[in-house]
Amino acid sequence: MKRKLTFMLAGLFLVTSFTAFAGPAEDRKALLTMYKELFPEIKFDDYIYGALAMNPDAKAQYDSIMEFPPYSVDMEVGQKLWETPFKNGKTFASCFPHNGKNVAGSYPYFDDKAGRVVTFENAVNDCLKANAEPEMKYGSYEMGLLTAHAKSLSNGSKVDVKVQGAGAVAAYEKGKQYYYERRGKLNFACSVCHIDNPGKFTRSEQLSMLPGHASHFPVFREGTTLVTLQGRYRQCAKNTQMPVLDFNSEEYNNLEYFMTYLSNGLKMQTPVFRK
Ligand code: HEC
Repeated sequence: MKRKLTFMLAGLFLVTSFTAFAGPAEDRKALLTMYKELFPEIKFDDYIYGALAMNPDAKAQYDSIMEFPPYSVDMEVGQKLWETPFKNGKTFASCFPHNGKNVAGSYPYFDDKAGRVVTFENAVNDCLKANAEPEMKYGSYEMGLLTAHAKSLSNGSKVDVKVQGAGAVAAYEKGKQYYYERRGKLNFACSVCHIDNPGKFTRSEQLSMLPGHASHFPVFREGTTLVTLQGRYRQCAKNTQMPVLDFNSEEYNNLEYFMTYLSNGLKMQTPVFRK
């Protein structure tokens, strides 16, 4: 009996130490090592360019488009939304530290009291609520324009998402599980393309890698169509016949938490052109 107990305790110890080892920091390190081995010529800072980092011609084309972005008029609308005072005279800036400058990189964060992930979009709606204004529809064009401008106030600062405490780690793990789990008719997982096959082509598109997926959204696809990060999840899900979930669903918010953590250390650059 005594022997059996010792054996069980030893097993428990092994399990605990394994869990402690395979945390978010270790995940990030392992993935970055893998991508570095796959693409030794791509600098870490260039991961923000996604698939463009793998194709100098496409990157040159992108650079020239970015000199005079076709979405500058849309960005003016976003700026106006951010700067127009609420009925009480305050503005969005009053809800964020440093008037919203260099703060977007720390979203999403885990709110221990509420027991859930808070995305930047959630913070925008919390701000509206606190100022007795109607909330914006999550995933709407209007909210996309507002967040594109608000996040651009953090351009150049780094993604710096914290995963600390049991609740935060659990949310991160759920997001990770969602990323790796196969689903839908074609039995795809996000990881099949962006972790197992980056650099390869699906039809005409070259597959990007996961780090850098969360540092530059919303994007303007074809230069004019605004797509938010969760909007992009929905597009990939639709293309691969996975279930398309609602904006602001617990699954997508956890997924965004996981993915943004893996973009830590990269420079924010919002918005950008994407094909
Ligand atoms: C069959 C392959 C495939 C699967 C599975 C897939 N994607 Fe994609 N994804 C693509 C392609 C192709 C693109 C466009 C080229 C690129 O940037 O990789 C893309 C682009 C993206 C981008 C935008 C990258 C950028 O910088 O513009 C994000 C974010 C993304 N996918 C997330 C996901 C998520 C989350 C899932 C799972 C729900 C997923 N993808 C599943 C193929 C896939």
